[in-house]
Amino acid sequence: MTDPVSRWRERAGGAVLLDGFHALKHALRFGAEVPVAVTTDRRATLALAGELAPDLTRALDALLTEVSLTTYASLVPRPHPTGVAALAERPSREGHLRTLARLPRTAPVVVLDEPRNLGNAGAVIRLAAGFGATGVVTTGTLDPWHSTVVRGGAGLHFATAVERLAVDELPPGPLFALDPEGEDIRGVKLPDDALLAFGSERSGLSAGLRARADQLLALPMRPQVSSYNLATSVAMTLYHWSTGAHTAP
Ligand SMILES: C[S@@+](CC[C@H](N)C(=O)[O-])C[C@H]1O[C@@H](n2cnc3c(N)ncnc32)[C@H](O)[C@@H]1O
Repeated sequence: MTDPVSRWRERAGGAVLLDGFHALKHALRFGAEVPVAVTTDRRATLALAGELAPDLTRALDALLTEVSLTTYASLVPRPHPTGVAALAERPSREGHLRTLARLPRTAPVVVLDEPRNLGNAGAVIRLAAGFGATGVVTTGTLDPWHSTVVRGGAGLHFATAVERLAVDELPPGPLFALDPEGEDIRGVKLPDDALLAFGSERSGLSAGLRARADQLLALPMRPQVSSYNLATSVAMTLYHWSTGAHTAP
């Protein structure tokens, strides 16, 4: 059997880096397969687990290997203040595609149309996980499993189905696209099988996405403000879905 550091070096290329205690905690809670985890201070990490994640203390005790600060820094490009890191297997794309396509759906799929900002994508995945969304689909060139996105998502990629697809491959379901020129969202009850689409930070919704949309919806915004940040728009929309509310016009 290889030692944990060699195992890390062998697997690092194809695996998902879980950077920090919270990322590892969330990934384990949502069923990630974690073949190797390292810490610069086992005792401190297990004490932190006792405080913040007693449900995982036993699993972490079995999983964590203590390494020197130098070894840790050689494994992780941007060492996290908690001194904990792990590698997880990336979930199968086929499994995700089945999850995304399955109807009836009990919670929406969030679609980010050609997002640019890795931090925004991570924040959206964290939101989707919190609201129990079915998944987060991105179109365009951004890799939603990029290590910076995983870091921004705090390990919550494992709590929802995250994949990149082309607009013509989007899962079935009515598509509500968010745009300041749309109809006021407060008058619309969002169904559980909805696709909720959001445009890119720079240029909003693409022509392809607009063509696939069943309805454009606007978040209330005072005149002279041009738009909200992408992740905050997703937050408001998922919150609106979660309340099941609409106000008759
Ligand atoms: C930063 S905004 C895009 C701004 C971009 N300059 C534009 O021309 O649309 C990113 C995305 O957030 C959503 N968004 C922002 N403000 C919104 C609002 N008031 N109503 C609906 N969607 C909004 C839209 O999906 C938008 O494409």
